[in-house]
Amino acid sequence: MLNIKRYDLSEDKSLQAWSAADEYLLQAFKDLDNKPDHLGIYNDRFGFLACHLHGITPTVIITNKSQEKTIDSNLKANDLTSVNFANPISSLDTKMDIALVKIPKSLGLFQLFLEHISQNSTDDVTVICAFMTRYFTPNLLQIAEEYFEVVEQSRAQKKARLLILSKKKKVVKRDIITSLSYKDQEYRQYLGVFSAEHIDYATQFFLDHLDIKKTDQCILDLASGNGVIGNEIFKRLPDAEIHLMDDSYLAVSSAELNIQGTNIHHHFNNELSIFDDDTFDLIVTNPPFHFEYEINIQVPLELFRGCHRCLKKGGSLQIVANKHLNYKIHLERFFTTVQVVAKAKKFIVYKCVK
Ligand SMILES: C[S@@+](CC[C@H](N)C(=O)[O-])C[C@H]1O[C@@H](n2cnc3c(N)ncnc32)[C@H](O)[C@@H]1O
Repeated sequence: MLNIKRYDLSEDKSLQAWSAADEYLLQAFKDLDNKPDHLGIYNDRFGFLACHLHGITPTVIITNKSQEKTIDSNLKANDLTSVNFANPISSLDTKMDIALVKIPKSLGLFQLFLEHISQNSTDDVTVICAFMTRYFTPNLLQIAEEYFEVVEQSRAQKKARLLILSKKKKVVKRDIITSLSYKDQEYRQYLGVFSAEHIDYATQFFLDHLDIKKTDQCILDLASGNGVIGNEIFKRLPDAEIHLMDDSYLAVSSAELNIQGTNIHHHFNNELSIFDDDTFDLIVTNPPFHFEYEINIQVPLELFRGCHRCLKKGGSLQIVANKHLNYKIHLERFFTTVQVVAKAKKFIVYKCVK
């Protein structure tokens, strides 16, 4: 029995490191008559599949730094050798003949995965996808049918279901970058990155209420997504040193498309431990609290703790959040001054001074 843990070591027992959909994928793989030459695994958040299948040296396609770190630590905890990691926008050296996909919440990301599989697989590839039945939408079938002639659904097992895709279509490469405009500027982003249709309304509200000073010379856009907040600040302070950090590889790659310069630094990471104490004059963030279908505020609270450490004395952390999350109580544990700068029906902007 393998020991698989979540990276956030949540005490909330309803948050688990794998689901019946992961178990169904594993069983479907074990039931295959022919074992693959090259297996690809997509959206294995905490490494349940990577750990169970590490013996056949799969390529694990990761989207998040936290995912890569957790899979590594779960492999180590179980005395297993490492696996090959890849990302979903770079070509693989060897073509896959089987891919396992835990279907993500974002349909854009599902499409990006199928596009990657389509470009990096043998003609006779089989793709086994799994989802919890309560999250089914007909759009899944529609996307799958863009890439495969045969799309079969399995019977349900412990409220999970499989989609088995075969007979790959000869599809021309699709565009995996979309664009959205904000204040006369085009922002580009990969499929699956936060808020694909328009700049998030909370972010827009935040940008209208940012308190930026000329003396803010070292700035962090934390959980930067496509980089819109960092870029809007860059326009106002073109000489400032601006860092942008996100846990998502696709977000960081999108931000790299939107904001560049010698004073701009992109970081693919999920922890502020990469920065020294007393580094920043200003940290701005629309922090994450949705992770696929889960809500988990332990992650933003840990980031806020790190923000306090990384801010210079007198520096500020400015946050936009959904009002109901009630971050003020938590922020007051780290910061002596927590001011409400603006409120709208759903959103609130805080300024915390160190
Ligand atoms: C609410 S979105 C905000 C994105 C962008 N700043 C905007 O306003 O459009 C939150 C972002 O946090 C990222 N994220 C999740 N966990 C993270 C972590 N531990 N560290 C950094 N970024 C994280 C997600 O990938 C996502 O891009």
